[in-house]
Amino acid sequence: MKTIVFTEIDQIAFLKLNRPDVRNAFNSGMIEELTQIFIALQSRSDLKAVGLSGEGKVFCAGADLNWMKSMVDFSLAENKQDSLKLYEMFAAMKNLDLPIVAAVHGAVFGGALGLVACCDYVVAEIGTKFCFSEVKLGIAPAVISGFVLDKANSAVKYYMTSAEVFSENQALALGLVNFSGAKDDVTKEFQRVLHLYKENGPVAVRRTKQLLRHLSGLNLAQHQETTTGLIAELRVSQEGQEGIKSFLENRKPSWKV
Ligand code: COA
Repeated sequence: MKTIVFTEIDQIAFLKLNRPDVRNAFNSGMIEELTQIFIALQSRSDLKAVGLSGEGKVFCAGADLNWMKSMVDFSLAENKQDSLKLYEMFAAMKNLDLPIVAAVHGAVFGGALGLVACCDYVVAEIGTKFCFSEVKLGIAPAVISGFVLDKANSAVKYYMTSAEVFSENQALALGLVNFSGAKDDVTKEFQRVLHLYKENGPVAVRRTKQLLRHLSGLNLAQHQETTTGLIAELRVSQEGQEGIKSFLENRKPSWKV
């Protein structure tokens, strides 16, 4: 595996995002690897839970903007197909019956909030910055939107439209994060919750996750069509490309005075 460090310790699978030079931003390779891992984990009846974290300075900077930028050369249909792969990664995570616990630090930007939304429990280090930065880049938090709304309370809509950076305390209030503390406390809490899952009946936990998914009424197929269509359109639009390029070129986008 090129982009993920995968280990198994005592009935827990640990996944570490491992592209620290680009702040663990996910490109098509990482999307493919994560999707395959989540699909494969579904049939691992010997495991009890999954721990997710990120290598380096930050947890994850969301979608790789170089990858997004390059999609300008592809047709709308090809862009839709590509966005579908991103959607399928989140869906594979959401559909996993094993509980997923994430430990986040540094920054959780853009699509990284989709990863967080698909977890069952999230611990965040004090000082972690959260941001739905997409609209700042001229695109939209489209693919992740259904997953985020399923997890967070409706106050999150403000952050999705304003791209305001918010703290771990605000993420707690929104329901995106369950615990925050200093690094050592976060590590302890991460281990404590993973251990809790080990104590429970593995089939009971899986069946409960299935039930809660069913009851939450999240219709993945309905969200899929709308959200992948929108991001496919926006990321190759003039505004989307300008926003992405301006970030990568370390300059203000043309609409910013
Ligand atoms: N895609 C591609 N490259 C990215 C990236 C992304 N999403 N986020 C960061 N990088 C790259 C930077 O271009 C930079 O590359 P360089 O070393 O070649 O110049 C490197 O990662 C380090 O980024 P930097 O901004 O210096 O790191 P930081 O630790 O100071 O800040 C973030 C971390 C996450 C706050 C900041 O990188 C950021 O805002 N990234 C954009 C996140 C975003 O808007 N994602 C939404 C995508 S839809």
